[in-house]
Amino acid sequence: MYNPKAIVFDAYGTLFDVNSAAEKCKGKIGNKWENFANFWRTTQLEYTWLRSLMKKHKNFWQITEDSLDKSMENFQIDKSLRNDLLSLYKELSPYPEVKNVLENLKKKSFKLAILSNGTPELLNHLVKSSDLKNLFDDIFSVEEVKIYKPDPKVYDIPINKYKVSKGEITFLSANTWDVSGAGNYGYNSIWVNRNNSVFDKLDYKPKNEIKNLKQLLDLK
Ligand code: LAC
Repeated sequence: MYNPKAIVFDAYGTLFDVNSAAEKCKGKIGNKWENFANFWRTTQLEYTWLRSLMKKHKNFWQITEDSLDKSMENFQIDKSLRNDLLSLYKELSPYPEVKNVLENLKKKSFKLAILSNGTPELLNHLVKSSDLKNLFDDIFSVEEVKIYKPDPKVYDIPINKYKVSKGEITFLSANTWDVSGAGNYGYNSIWVNRNNSVFDKLDYKPKNEIKNLKQLLDLK
């Protein structure tokens, strides 16, 4: 892990399973639940990038609602599910290994933080509802700079707070584009390749690729 001063985690998709909201409604949505969940996530991310380029920021909760509305229309999902899906999105399930890995890392001397597109309210609620709150030193949100990843201003946030160099931060994300963004910025980015995917061609190759966060504990 290159002796980091801080280990910084992406939230959605890395610590928390973004598909878990739709999965919990699969009885009502039917077989298309997974395509619907993937479409919702992709639309949500596209809206973050588009709004950053258009300089028309809206917070991540509003973007989550807007992208849900498009996805529900596209997949003809019954409107009565909207409130359920949104409530479930506020309490997404953490991946099974997350708590144990954080407890292990907490015994060491580096800072542990989240750096995410989520609003402070959403992120605080997520860590509270999954009993992870005490394990983080800081929860950094893009709302501090009102632009989304991968704008460098976002990756500046922990650097400014911890007064460390870019290479002293180890950053973990399951989102390839976030690994590329943070790696191009100068962090040591590690890719959590949960779904056996192919990496980006965006001029950065992570030195480490792991399948889940548990494997982080084995890195030298
Ligand atoms: C986040 C999104 C990118 O948590 O997953 O920032």
